[in-house]
Amino acid sequence: MNVRITTLAENTASWIGLLGEWGLSILVEVDGLRVLLDTGATDTVVHNASSLDVDLSSVDKIVLSHGHYDHTGGLRSVLRAMKGTVQVISHPDIWDVKYALLQGEDKHRYIGIPFKREELEWLGASFAPSREPVWITDSIVTTGEIPLRNDYEQIDPVLQIKSDRGGQRFVGDPLHDDLSLVIKDDGGLIVISGCAHKGIINTIHRAREITGVEKVKAVIGGTHLMNASDERLEWTITELKKLELEHLGVSHCTGFHAASRMAGEFGDIFFSNNAGTQKAL
Ligand SMILES: [Fe+2]
Ligand SMILES: [Fe+2]
Repeated sequence: MNVRITTLAENTASWIGLLGEWGLSILVEVDGLRVLLDTGATDTVVHNASSLDVDLSSVDKIVLSHGHYDHTGGLRSVLRAMKGTVQVISHPDIWDVKYALLQGEDKHRYIGIPFKREELEWLGASFAPSREPVWITDSIVTTGEIPLRNDYEQIDPVLQIKSDRGGQRFVGDPLHDDLSLVIKDDGGLIVISGCAHKGIINTIHRAREITGVEKVKAVIGGTHLMNASDERLEWTITELKKLELEHLGVSHCTGFHAASRMAGEFGDIFFSNNAGTQKAL
């Protein structure tokens, strides 16, 4: 099987002519089928795709890992660049009214999708919402909802939603919409996450459960360890080591501290998956 990733948007950029922004977008190619996981926060994806000679009009499907703006804010410009109808696979709760109450701020900041669904549909998005895993081919599947199964991986409490649409009371965002992309490769699973708000280890367990495959060969993408306690970080590293991965390419909300700890622990298999990273897996 031929699997290749090209990271089109990330917090940092790896080469001249590429832009960095707070967000993530990864183009995943599996035997010629092109799936775009997330779209970054702005039109950076379109700029970087052009710099990398990536033709966005040949993308076959879009998968949204969750409804935060830094993974969906590029949708308008990506859809314009694609010039046609494209299926957009996600959980229905991406449309929840999502906020963050950040440290040092006294007001909730809106961090949900910055577009109306109708506008995106007019631009060519054909939304295919599902709470369950969606098999795109026999070897590419989304995780659907990811159960929380351990004491370490809890959802970041700064992430909140309005308790009802149009309501005024804030409650913790259960992030039912958080999902990842899983490739059933010959040598094991490739797990590609957006933010992994439900926890990267919970995500990996879900990937194994859906596919029936135990061996995990690569973990790529956001791991949301930027605010993690040392205890959670060390536990996560211990669990990842048990997998005997061939590739660990973290991005975005992993945060510098966790990424540098992993770089030290995982040696040659580790890479910073930033904008411009192109890798055969
Ligand atoms: Fe997020
Ligand atoms: Fe994010």
